Amino acid sequence: MTYPIRPIDESEWPAFGKVLEEAFGMQPHPAQDERYRAETEFDRTLAAFDGDRIAGVTSILSLSMTVPGGQLPVAGVTAVSVLPSHRRRGVLSSIMRRQLSDIRERGECVAALYASEALIYGRFGYGRAAGELSFHIQKHGSAFVGNAPSDPSLRLRVATPAEVRPDLERLFASVVTRRPGRYERTPQSWNAVLADEEADRRGSGPLRSVLAEDDHGVRGYTLFRVKSSWDADGVPDGELKLYELEAADPAAYALLWRSVLDRDLVSRLDAGTRPVDDPLIALIADQRQLRARWSDELWVRLVEVDRALAARAYSAPVDVVIEVEDDVCPWNAGRWRLTADPTGAECKPVEDEPDMTLPVSALGSAYLGDGLLVESLGAGLLREHSDGAVRSLATAMSWSPKPWAGLTF
Ligand SMILES: CC(C)(COP(=O)(O)OP(=O)(O)OC[C@H]1O[C@@H](n2cnc3c(N)ncnc32)[C@H](O)[C@@H]1OP(=O)(O)O)[C@@H](O)C(=O)NCCC(=O)NCCS
Repeated sequence: MTYPIRPIDESEWPAFGKVLEEAFGMQPHPAQDERYRAETEFDRTLAAFDGDRIAGVTSILSLSMTVPGGQLPVAGVTAVSVLPSHRRRGVLSSIMRRQLSDIRERGECVAALYASEALIYGRFGYGRAAGELSFHIQKHGSAFVGNAPSDPSLRLRVATPAEVRPDLERLFASVVTRRPGRYERTPQSWNAVLADEEADRRGSGPLRSVLAEDDHGVRGYTLFRVKSSWDADGVPDGELKLYELEAADPAAYALLWRSVLDRDLVSRLDAGTRPVDDPLIALIADQRQLRARWSDELWVRLVEVDRALAARAYSAPVDVVIEVEDDVCPWNAGRWRLTADPTGAECKPVEDEPDMTLPVSALGSAYLGDGLLVESLGAGLLREHSDGAVRSLATAMSWSPKPWAGLTF
């Protein structure tokens, strides 16, 4: 059975939203629904229709994302949902194919998404491209190493987030290009970050902010909530939920971490998403105290392999012929010679014998600098035809700092 697919217009938003609600089993607060509607690019939505009823949906946010060596327009795939009554009939598969061809037509060569479940998107050519750590730190175990940086010119300022929004936006814009995976924020995405309805608090107090600054301006900020409590013996047992900690330099970074870790009446800190190479890992004296937990974060799909591979920088010289397998975007299937070094890259179609054969998802996974090419080779999942070729590609594609988006879209 086929379901006609087309973008929706704004009047169809309630029916579109209903599919999301049913698929995720959630009921957004009216303010959340309004924020979500406001950031939706209606010409980039897709809905699959069963008669006059919407059975499946998705949409795209036009992101400007940092990739190794620069920034790129990236299709941020979101709102993927199929009505429970229509699941496993191929609705998602047909929407994904249509969406990838729309992305190509628009001229974007890379798509990225957050996956609700890790098994969904590999079949559509997406690869796990970034990871994240969550930290659960008890205050008593949070001491830093002795030589942690400090700067006497820095001071802390308690601020209401909405009142210092321009400072937060400026600081964030100054660091967004430092790490692959980060993307520029629109006014709508800042509205979501700073939203502070009762429904956003989930039992904690209001959104709070502390800035680190000197006489020349703001050098970093935190966004967090505190859940106050005392245990049965009357000992303070509050929890601090850290949402964001951004800093322009190491001293401001260390000071902001101390300000959330040392907070009075709080006994533990919960940081839901941090990069896998967060400098906190080096700063804290006892790393076990991070109680770090890993999860996959961004998934990336190369929509046009040659343009995507030529659009990023490489850590080391590489010259390889890659035979790409791609059933979903057949224009990518074939042999490509990637010639790159830290100053530039070229990727051209060739007839030469390949040095390796890779599924397109392996390239998506490696694209932002944190792929599993060598591990996949070791696991017998990739075919290498020239000794050392996969390792050479993996070394060239690896990047520091490691990718991390830090904000779900
Ligand atoms: C995930 C979801 C969109 C899949 O939609 P769907 O229309 O049922 O998917 P399809 O029928 O096109 O499935 C295509 C293939 O993917 C597989 N698949 C789909 N969802 C899967 C999942 N969650 N886990 C593992 N495999 C999955 C199907 O089994 C099918 O495999 P096959 O081709 O070997 O038969 C739908 O189940 C849903 O809305 N889930 C809840 C919301 C959600 O998690 N959305 C994703 C947000 S990132």
